[in-house]
Amino acid sequence: MTNRKNILITGGTGFIGGHLSRYLVDQGYAVTVLTRAEAIHQTGTEHLAFVAALADLQPRHWYGVINLAGEPLNKTRWSQAQKAQIINSRVAVTQDLTAWLRGLSTPPEVSISGSAVGWYGHWDDECLDEDSPSRAGFSNALCAAWETAAMAQADLARRLCIVRLGIVLGNDGGSLPAMLLPAKLGLGGSMGNGRQWWSWIHLEDVVRSIKMLLENPQATGVFNLTAPHPVTQIEFARTLGRQLHRPALLPLPGFMAKLMLGEFAEEVLLKGQRVRPKKLLDNGFTFNHPDLPTALRHLL
Ligand SMILES: NC(=O)c1ccc[n+]([C@@H]2O[C@H](COP(=O)([O-])OP(=O)(O)OC[C@H]3O[C@@H](n4cnc5c(N)ncnc54)[C@H](OP(=O)(O)O)[C@@H]3O)[C@@H](O)[C@H]2O)c1
Repeated sequence: MTNRKNILITGGTGFIGGHLSRYLVDQGYAVTVLTRAEAIHQTGTEHLAFVAALADLQPRHWYGVINLAGEPLNKTRWSQAQKAQIINSRVAVTQDLTAWLRGLSTPPEVSISGSAVGWYGHWDDECLDEDSPSRAGFSNALCAAWETAAMAQADLARRLCIVRLGIVLGNDGGSLPAMLLPAKLGLGGSMGNGRQWWSWIHLEDVVRSIKMLLENPQATGVFNLTAPHPVTQIEFARTLGRQLHRPALLPLPGFMAKLMLGEFAEEVLLKGQRVRPKKLLDNGFTFNHPDLPTALRHLL
């Protein structure tokens, strides 16, 4: 028997979820990761367990549920079928969680459900916060479907938080490792015109802010999980180049990026949005890595 609070995490074998699970165990929680059957060979530890199905969960009080699972965006080129899979994988897991929550005898304190700053769609230099409107496009459709599915949990937990994640920077997953080799070779320059905004966040601040959402009884609704100082793509490339003592020289024309990566390049790399974490700041969250030079220095 343990007096640790129980947290259920979907996507807990992934880049963010893996770090989050270990961090929450270190912070005194007992974490259970819901993972698809083929990944169940993962070995647990005393306070970190893996289950293949919600039906396998032992009856107990769940303090929090964190939902991050979904087909990776860059797994393969985006056909219509792949785009449907990217959306459906997230919506299906969220709906399964909703059905499971409905059957619990006591509601969790909080359900935290994933989304991304892609919800806002593509913008130029406008500063966006949680009150800003969205613009149509695939990223918006994906995040809107994911968030709408999560809204069904509003009455099934005491609080529902939706986290709109920016580009998460870490050493062992996400976008940064893929950017390092070209940058080290001095090849990381502008993508397209380079003026698109990239709203990034250090992985450490992601896990710390999710812990704050778990524990702050006032925290509810949508939260942008982005650093307070987003940058344009060319500023990102130059900052990374400076950290690596390499010039950010070679531009990648937009048409080349689209040729190489298809619609993913158009949606995620060549266009962006300048997002501010207004609600995290209003709730008193302090960032360990508020600006990009600090974050990259720490990571590299
Ligand atoms: N990384 C970022 O920069 C970033 C930015 C914005 C939003 N996000 C979102 O945040 C979430 C976590 O990101 P991440 O980088 O940690 O992702 P990740 O490393 O790709 O992990 C995602 C997890 O989802 C599960 N999964 C994969 N395909 C699935 C499918 N078809 N159906 C059901 N589950 C599936 C996997 O768990 P099992 O194999 O154990 O089942 C995997 O561990 C993702 O939904 C992502 O879209 C990430």
